[in-house]
Amino acid sequence: MAMMPSKSALLWFLIVVTNHVSEAAGRPKWRLTLAEDESLRSCHDRTVSFRSKETSRPELGAGPEPGDLAAAFKVPTLDGEFSYEPNALRASSLVIHAFTNKSGFLESLWSSESSLSSLVEGLPDRTQVLFASLDDSALSDALWMREQLQRAAARSNKKEVLSRLHFSPVPVFALGNWIPSVLYNWGCMGHNCGLSQAVFTSHGWKMPIITKRLDARYDWLMARWQPKSYQLVDAGDGCQHSPSVAGAVVWVSEGNCSFFTKVLNMAKSNASGVLVCSLPGNPIQDMNCVGDECYTPLSIPAAMVHQEVSISQALRVGQVVNVSFQTTPSPNFFISIDQKGALAEMGWFLYPTFSFINWQAQWFEFFADLQIKLQSPAEVVSVFDKIQMQGEKGAVATVDLPLGLWDFDTLELDASLSCPGSRDSSCAQWDHTVQLFVCCDHLGPYCNTELGRWITAFRRGIGRWLTDVSPLIPLLDSNKCTFTMKTVPWAKPWIVSLNLRFSASNQTALCVTGDSVEKLRPFRVMSLYSGGTFDRNYNKRYQPVKFPVPSLTKKVELYAVITGHGSDENGCGEFCVTSHHFLINAVFNNTRIFDSAGTALGCTMRVKEGAVPNEHGTWLYGRGGWCDGLQVNPWRTDVTKQLDMSGLESNTVVYFGLFDGKDPNPAQQPGNIIMSSFLVFYK
Ligand SMILES: *[C@@H]1O[C@H](CO)[C@@H](O)[C@H](O)[C@H]1NC(C)=O
Ligand SMILES: *[C@@H]1O[C@H](CO)[C@@H](O)[C@H](O)[C@H]1NC(C)=O
Ligand SMILES: *[C@@H]1O[C@H](CO)[C@@H](O)[C@H](O)[C@H]1NC(C)=O
Ligand SMILES: *[C@@H]1O[C@H](CO)[C@@H](O)[C@H](O)[C@H]1NC(C)=O
Ligand SMILES: *[C@@H]1O[C@H](CO)[C@@H](O)[C@H](O)[C@H]1NC(C)=O
Ligand SMILES: *[C@@H]1O[C@H](CO)[C@@H](O)[C@H](O)[C@H]1NC(C)=O
Repeated sequence: MAMMPSKSALLWFLIVVTNHVSEAAGRPKWRLTLAEDESLRSCHDRTVSFRSKETSRPELGAGPEPGDLAAAFKVPTLDGEFSYEPNALRASSLVIHAFTNKSGFLESLWSSESSLSSLVEGLPDRTQVLFASLDDSALSDALWMREQLQRAAARSNKKEVLSRLHFSPVPVFALGNWIPSVLYNWGCMGHNCGLSQAVFTSHGWKMPIITKRLDARYDWLMARWQPKSYQLVDAGDGCQHSPSVAGAVVWVSEGNCSFFTKVLNMAKSNASGVLVCSLPGNPIQDMNCVGDECYTPLSIPAAMVHQEVSISQALRVGQVVNVSFQTTPSPNFFISIDQKGALAEMGWFLYPTFSFINWQAQWFEFFADLQIKLQSPAEVVSVFDKIQMQGEKGAVATVDLPLGLWDFDTLELDASLSCPGSRDSSCAQWDHTVQLFVCCDHLGPYCNTELGRWITAFRRGIGRWLTDVSPLIPLLDSNKCTFTMKTVPWAKPWIVSLNLRFSASNQTALCVTGDSVEKLRPFRVMSLYSGGTFDRNYNKRYQPVKFPVPSLTKKVELYAVITGHGSDENGCGEFCVTSHHFLINAVFNNTRIFDSAGTALGCTMRVKEGAVPNEHGTWLYGRGGWCDGLQVNPWRTDVTKQLDMSGLESNTVVYFGLFDGKDPNPAQQPGNIIMSSFLVFYK
């Protein structure tokens, strides 16, 4: 239970985006656009006003953009000097973090033990981090940041990480190099920049009191503050119902009961929102639900602020205090340089933890390894080279395939999805399914068969993936084929590149030794089942298929690409555990279970495989056979031993899909399964 995404998130979503419900096929429903997010709006507007057009290069002098090579720089540090030379990093990446204690988000990031431990325990070995401060207090900030991490490193017994962490006592505004221009000019979306604040006014005061705030965890409380003035009312520790707070924002103190209890009590008392003030000396914390609490939907916003004596006093003497909410733009807090020396954005930090730095750094490692893989010998056929994919048509190209395909037994898809502009702010939202179809024989039964599937990275333009689809080589049995890559027609445009990489597995071994081990090659595919609406009739649609094994076949493989989408009352098929079974000859139960679906961090585990990290929305949750910003890996099983290979007898196969080991039986809004499945014959 504790691992599931909160039900409140689901309910909120269904209420807010019911206008999207008709977009059933393939459209995940459990995320929300951040258009309502105040911090997004302000930062985004700022970006636009600095740059005439998202798709164009910025004006001269505006500084480097993501993808540009970072110039050399030197920064004084507490231990001496940090010096960056292009090419010198090579195997390592660099994250630059600009701290300011004016941000409640950063205060929490730097105060939480779990956040600090995640950095010292999880920072990839090849990553360095340079910490600086945006403020006059840079020296004391640097000393404090170092002390926080030294303590965390000692606690975790990970002191070796400290040699890769560098602390600048010189404030960002005095660095004199290109770093400030990148921090100041790169807008951001969400928490990575912008100062979220609460503004308190009272007739007795000459000036408003403006404090930093940190809104409750995004996927716990999705209600947002309205752009208006609320009356503020004191409710002690908020651990009991409070009769006279209807319509007001309640001011409650930390402690005596959970954040959840406070917000629940105040919601039941018809309050409009909750401000929890920290106890004296305590930092602002990331308010979240715990365990079963997460299943109670709550529809009022809440935030944490520091205790302010004048506010408490004014409330105590019955003075009217109003509160409103704002986000003041700020420089970006995080930028980075990848292993090849290219500047990069850091994406969106869903909540205050250094894990988001680790995930981005893990992705840099993945990407560096991918570039090495792409240098291995292969016959490369370019299908799309930075082509816009949008609308019903998608991206379409007809290409000539190399002669002598028979020499190759490996086919990999090298695909990337980038955005119209250089910044992530120009990228399309949502995690939509992208499918690649191929047609080599316009009259044949396999015209427009699915060759590959990916899921878009919600507002991030860095995704690039290599997918082995070798068993489907027989589909390319022609010297000219047409490729179509599409996502849902209403999605904003993506810029796609796709290369087919044909190679012979283990080429060197073969050439050198003239290996006597026989190499098997797929020569025929037989299409099996596709998915459909995951309702009580789901399995009634599948009839057993009878087939003889073609003569000369040495090996038979089951090949399936399966993803679950949509959301019934159990979160099926995106967030529920479904299992998929191909029963061969009535006895062999080939089973695939999506057991990380619905886990809180399931997709973070796959960043090392290329899942794009730090996307918008809740990319972290495990899903039914897929992750945001990742290819869908084909499921391959050798079924040779399960078959009568003589070619004389027929074999049978039948598919069925289950939820919780049973036929699905949703009470509402059934989800759907997208599936391509084949038997592949090798000789
Ligand atoms: C950050 O600010 C809070 C109050 O706003 C204060 O209690 C804390 O000591 C500050 N931390 C640092 C490192 O300055
Ligand atoms: C508080 O807001 C109300 C309206 O929402 C307004 O009438 C009142 O003047 C405000 N009071 C202060 C102290 O700002
Ligand atoms: C917590 O409860 C105790 C006992 O009821 C009370 O004295 C104290 O003021 C409460 N703490 C806060 C922060 O309200
Ligand atoms: C909250 O509002 C509901 C609906 O308007 C009302 O029935 C209920 O009595 C109110 N509760 C409190 C504690 O004010
Ligand atoms: C390549 O061939 C060698 C020797 O035949 C074998 O040991 C090795 O596992 C093969 N590698 C792969 C990736 O198939
Ligand atoms: C196949 O396995 C699943 C669970 O692993 C089970 O629920 C199902 O009944 C099995 N089917 C058959 C026909 O054995």
